[in-house]
Amino acid sequence: MERDIRIGVIGLGYVGLPIALALAEKYEVTGFDINTAKVTSLKKNIDPSDEIETEAFLSKKISFTDDIAELAHCSVYVVAVPTPVDKHKVPNLKPLQLASESVGCILNEGDIVIYESTVYPGCTEEVCVPILEKASGLKYMEAFKVGYSPERINPGDKQHTLSQITKVVSGCDEESLDTIAELYGSIIEAGIHKASSIKVAEAAKIIENTQRDVNIALMNELAIIFDKLDINTHEVLEAAGTKWNFLKFYPGLVGGHCIGVDPYYLTYKAQQVGYDPEVILSGRRINDNTPQFIAKKIIRNLIKQNKNLTACNVLVKGVTFKENVTDIRNSKVYDLIKELQDFSLSVDVMDCKAKKDEVKKEYGLDLIDEPRAKYDVLVIAVAHDEYKGEGFGDWEKHLVAEPIIFDVRALYRNQNLDKKAIYLTL
Ligand SMILES: NC(=O)c1ccc[n+]([C@@H]2O[C@H](COP(=O)([O-])OP(=O)(O)OC[C@H]3O[C@@H](n4cnc5c(N)ncnc54)[C@H](O)[C@@H]3O)[C@@H](O)[C@H]2O)c1
Repeated sequence: MERDIRIGVIGLGYVGLPIALALAEKYEVTGFDINTAKVTSLKKNIDPSDEIETEAFLSKKISFTDDIAELAHCSVYVVAVPTPVDKHKVPNLKPLQLASESVGCILNEGDIVIYESTVYPGCTEEVCVPILEKASGLKYMEAFKVGYSPERINPGDKQHTLSQITKVVSGCDEESLDTIAELYGSIIEAGIHKASSIKVAEAAKIIENTQRDVNIALMNELAIIFDKLDINTHEVLEAAGTKWNFLKFYPGLVGGHCIGVDPYYLTYKAQQVGYDPEVILSGRRINDNTPQFIAKKIIRNLIKQNKNLTACNVLVKGVTFKENVTDIRNSKVYDLIKELQDFSLSVDVMDCKAKKDEVKKEYGLDLIDEPRAKYDVLVIAVAHDEYKGEGFGDWEKHLVAEPIIFDVRALYRNQNLDKKAIYLTL
């Protein structure tokens, strides 16, 4: 691998930025994003998503731009743009198509384009390649090559960092596969897995997240059943977990833009080829309905306490889509808040990680810094490390005499409460 190889990274978010910085340890990298404010911030060595420290930008061969023409000198392109679904849960390939068009416009003979965005099997060659061909006027396989290498990073996880996760790579032929494997192999310590085709690599990524989604859905369904049977789900899981082959999954809210979204890419493709995926879609439905289940359980208990719902105050701790991240996109905590508000409860929300302006913009909610009422209900919705360190004692004074506590991730299951509280978990 020539060390003077020049790489363009398209899309500088949770996936694109770490890969750009990792590649910039060895190669000259130009990062491109259509979000000018993000590019301005990155030029100052500040990651707007707070995932990467400023030190990681220093002494790297990297520059940032919002002008695609500045990537024209590159010979390898890595595309890491979003792959969301629309409101009907259908894949929205617009960002991927636009990014392919941008790359196509500057593509030269001999270049390689590597896609990292999560897609359904077949998408890279069926959707992206024709756009690259059209925009560049070059012929696929003859004048340029394409590869696919799915990303597996887990935002908020400081242990499984990019270089510590085995990277699956694929190429459109042996030569491109070897080149791509060598490129990633030079920055990934954990090693490379060469997939036999682009489709296999695409499918591998999509099933990793689908498997997690379905397993969590099973736990959420068990939580519904055990609620009816008046058994504590976590006690059941603890007991069952003593068997060597019992898989460790827990009930919870499945939000964000990966686990709750990627399965729809697979189900979309499955339906296109005439198969109706029953297990995956019912798992999705169960996970999407978990906020409503939590809200109803809270309401049922308030009614049992003869509370006037319109006079009840709720404090929700945590609004990000999962623990230890600032990312609030597609947070199911918001669905829970909406449901509680629909029952006329007054809901205050705090989060030690989320950014106030983003929460206001995305959900119209004003995060509070300190509790400002005596709360009838406390919901610990996200298991941020900061909340794990707290005990009940820290906020008991903000609760009414007989509060309802819904601890979504069962953080405080084994703690004693001074107050006479109704303690609920999934
Ligand atoms: N976030 C994760 O944990 C994670 C993990 C593995 C895989 N993925 C996948 O990686 C892909 C990217 O996800 P992400 O979390 O980094 O998204 P993100 O939203 O954090 O970042 C994407 C970036 O792409 C930019 N962008 C959008 N359209 C563009 C275009 N046409 N040209 C250039 N830039 C453009 C956006 O402005 C944004 O900065 C998705 O397919 C996602 O499913 C994400």
